[in-house]
Order: sequence, then C-alpha cells, then structure tokens
Amino acid sequence: MSQIAAVGKGLATFCGSAQEGSADNEGLASCFDRVTLTKLAPSPCVDLAVHFHLAALNHHFGLAAASYNSGVLEELVNANGWAVLSGHCKALYFTIVVRNFDTIESHWEELLMLAKSDVARRYLELLKKSLLNELYIENEARIVLVILNLINKRATGLADLRDVAQQRALLDALALTKETGGAIMLPVANADGTVSNKGARNFTELSHTMIGRPRLDNIQFCVETVLDEDVPGDMIETGIWRGGATIFMRGILAAYGITDRTIWAADSFEGVPPPTHPEDKGLDLSAKVFPILAVSVDEVSNLFARYGLLDDQVKFLKGWFKDTLAPAPIEKLAVLRLDGDLYESTMDALGPLYGKVSPGGFVIVDDYFSCPPCKRAIDEFREVNKIDEKLSVIDGHSVFWRKRKDA
Ligand SMILES: C[S@@+](CC[C@H](N)C(=O)[O-])C[C@H]1O[C@@H](n2cnc3c(N)ncnc32)[C@H](O)[C@@H]1O
Repeated sequence: MSQIAAVGKGLATFCGSAQEGSADNEGLASCFDRVTLTKLAPSPCVDLAVHFHLAALNHHFGLAAASYNSGVLEELVNANGWAVLSGHCKALYFTIVVRNFDTIESHWEELLMLAKSDVARRYLELLKKSLLNELYIENEARIVLVILNLINKRATGLADLRDVAQQRALLDALALTKETGGAIMLPVANADGTVSNKGARNFTELSHTMIGRPRLDNIQFCVETVLDEDVPGDMIETGIWRGGATIFMRGILAAYGITDRTIWAADSFEGVPPPTHPEDKGLDLSAKVFPILAVSVDEVSNLFARYGLLDDQVKFLKGWFKDTLAPAPIEKLAVLRLDGDLYESTMDALGPLYGKVSPGGFVIVDDYFSCPPCKRAIDEFREVNKIDEKLSVIDGHSVFWRKRKDA
C-alpha cells in the first residue's frame, strides 16, 4: 500500500481499509472526501485517478483485500491503460459511488472530469510533443545541421554533433516551427558571397504532423467538445500526409475510452494533385515539386501502429478526394478537418462531406490563410450555402467554425 501511496503522491495517511470501512473501497473514500471537501486544485488529480481506478478494479475483479498487485499497476501505465481503466470505471463508478457515498452524487460530473482529466491530459500532451518531434529536438537539430552543411558544401565536425546545444539559434528556430507549423529556413551561401535564407522542407520536415501546436490544440478542443456535448459522428481529416493529426484524433478517443467513433483518414498517398482548376493556377504542390508530401499508406499505418493506435476505429480512404469521399460509408461527422491545400481539394472534400457534419459539429480549415485558393473555396462555399456561422482564427494559417446546433 505504501508503494501505491508513493505513486499516488501524498495520500499515505488516507489509505487503509480500517479507516475506510471495507476492503474493497480502500483509499477511495478518502480520495472522494478530499475532493468534495476541498474542491481540489488540479495537482492531486493523479492521486484521485490512480486510487479511484485501483479501487474500482479491486472491487470489480475481487482482488484480495488491499492487494493492488503489480499487474494492475502495469495495466494502468501501459499505452491502453487509460482506456481500459476508464472503461471499467465508467461501468462501476455509479455503483460504487452511490452505494458508499451518497453525498458524492451531487459532484458526479466534477469528479468524473477530475478523474479523467489529469491522466488523459498528460497522455495527450505527451502525444502532441511526440507528433511534433519536440522530445528529440536535439536530434532534429543534428540532422538539419548536416543538411545545412551539405548544401553549403561544408564538413560537419563530430564535435558539432555532440555539442549540439551550442547551436542555440538552430534549436530556437526549430522550436519555433513546432509552434507555427512553418518550415525551417536555412542560411545558404550564394555565389556572390551573400547569404539568403532558403526553405528545404523536402529534407528538413521530420515531424509526424506539419500543423504545429496551436492547431493540434484546436483539434483537441473540437474533439473534446463534441465528446462532452455528445455531438454525434466520426472525425475525418482530408489530407493527412504522415497522419499526425489523425493519429492525434485517435489518441483523444483512446484517452477517453471512446469506442463507438471512427477516425477517417483520406489522402491520395501520392501527394497533392497538379493544379488543373483555374482557381489553383500557379500553385503546384504536386510530388514533382514537393516529393515530401507523397507518403504511402503503408508508412502512415506504420506510424499509427508505432503509437499503438492502429485498429478498426481507423479507416483509410485512399485516392483522390473527388473519387473517394462521396461513396465513403460515413454516416455522420462531428469533426471535419480540411487540409488539402488547393481550391479543388477543398471543394472536393466540402461538397460530399459538409452535409454530413452534425449540428454542433466543427469544420476546421487548415490552409485558409496560407493557401489563397483554399480561402476562395471556403468563402465561395459558405456564400453559396448561406453558412454564416462565425469563422474563428486558430493561428496564422487556419480557421474553424461550428455548425449551429439548430442547423
Ligand atoms: C499539407 S499535407 C497535410 C498535412 C497533415 N494534415 C498533417 O497533419 O501534417 C496535404 C495532404 O493532402 C493530400 N491531398 C491534397 N489534395 C488531395 C486530393 N485532391 N486528393 C487526395 N489527397 C490530397 C496530399 O497528398 C497531402 O498528403
């Protein structure tokens, strides 16, 4: 028990079946008492979640009194732990709470949120860091340094690689790209001895999503809102590249134990089509120019699997949007995220999918400010379809709106 108390940090004096009245609610009463008495600030949320889950499992599986064994703890911390545990807890929560603590009933929502929120929040923060490659940013700096030296025909010293912390400017510039979703600009020497900053995204894009942190935060906001408010439907991104945004959507469902919604991941897996629509004239992002944007479906499913998030709640729609989206067996959408860059790709997605967005659902437009043809498609579609819900700005690239609940 003391081990558990150590994990739970600070509840040592509250853990004991003697004080709690029975073996199967060990630690639980104290956690709840403390929450209801003090309306806890965020810090002890882990205590609550850990103890509550353990107590619930103990109750559920009839484990020996006070024997929160190591298998249970392992289950708690493994990749699917939260989903498994919150599934058990949802089923058991009411029984335990009402049976043992009448007063808790009035704090139901608050307690559920507290118990869910801290572990889920930590998992989702870690997921975002990983998708943005923030955890190993020094290694990203090492690779970019080698690329920079290659372009400038300079040798890379081993000491430069070892002491990469010395590359403060490079590390700061990389950190900024994680915030903005922008590409890193490299100082490249010109023939006349001057230096210009040049993009080299085809080589330097190493993260699993290129949308940056504020847009991941926005996805989290939209998905959590539709879950909290029971807005029906699946989530889709049209234009997934390496899949990072959709991996994140799947991770949010996993964090909250949601098993009845699907993540649809639509892409050509061959890059952006060459511009053929007059509105896209001059915007050639095809694989000829940006081979980095052509990522195969095998690579993407591999990444989902690496995150432990590849399962039958993920469906890939492979091909051009104009061919795949209309016939896709999607009934309803709670979140529609558009990231196809072009006028044509935006229209080809909005046309068949907008009508499937539930009232109260969200439409996110990744390229509204960064690709003028995409903005033209959105403005035109909204005008023709008399959509007047307010556009909210996410960052320098993107906007979103929420379909009215009475739409
Ligand atoms: C900018 S990337 C998407 C970035 C991604 N959302 C992320 O999280 O990093 C654009 C993607 O849209 C896809 N795409 C663009 N137009 C398309 C179309 N008409 N049909 C199928 N895929 C398309 C490209 O293959 C590419 O993977």
